[in-house]
Amino acid sequence: MPAREVQSAHRPESFRGSPLIEVDSLIDRLDLEKIFARRAALHVDLGCGNGSFLCALAQRIPEKNFLGIERLLGRIRSATRKAAKIGNVRLLRMESSYVVRYLLPTRSVETFYLLFPDPWPKRRHWRRRLVTEDFLSAISQALVENGTFRIATDQREYFEKMKEMARANSNFAIIDPSVADLPLTKFERTFRAQGASIHWLELRKVSPVR
Ligand SMILES: C[S@@+](CC[C@H](N)C(=O)[O-])C[C@H]1O[C@@H](n2cnc3c(N)ncnc32)[C@H](O)[C@@H]1O
Repeated sequence: MPAREVQSAHRPESFRGSPLIEVDSLIDRLDLEKIFARRAALHVDLGCGNGSFLCALAQRIPEKNFLGIERLLGRIRSATRKAAKIGNVRLLRMESSYVVRYLLPTRSVETFYLLFPDPWPKRRHWRRRLVTEDFLSAISQALVENGTFRIATDQREYFEKMKEMARANSNFAIIDPSVADLPLTKFERTFRAQGASIHWLELRKVSPVR
């Protein structure tokens, strides 16, 4: 679609197709204007589960685009059903790290959410965790300048590790988490009901001091 025909940030038209994206290529970056049929700031929920958080937030902020990434079929189906009547949500069934590294255009994302990532608490499983130094670098590449990465976990030890990695990465500043405006996720509801502590980490992309 030529740029002049793309609607600028405003309430999306009612959406007729499926919100589930089928990618044509695994080596080309996503054409976000085509996918959303407009140009608007993009928020990405990594591991969006059943999509309840994603869809609630998208309805609150209709002028932004929302992309949910989830690898489990049952959960992506459930998210797709929820998103069906919301114009500004799209879903992709894929590995989050692949999407961040290879499919999202450079400097295209205003905010990433990683809410209750699989914790892999056993030491021998830590290598399966999503957040690594390389992953943080890929997140920073995909973020716009001053873009944010919002993380929540109930796992203190994983939280401390992520914070340590963020401190060591000169592309990020750790800022005070601003979470009051966010809907609860499905897992957050469960953890709260169990009385678990929730740890929030919010990172802002900055220009490294050289
Ligand atoms: C603990 S659940 C949290 C779901 C949701 N964010 C919430 O807070 O309700 C973690 C979700 O991330 C998904 N997930 C874990 N690793 C993933 C990956 N590498 N790529 C895509 N999805 C992933 C899981 O399938 C699961 O749905």
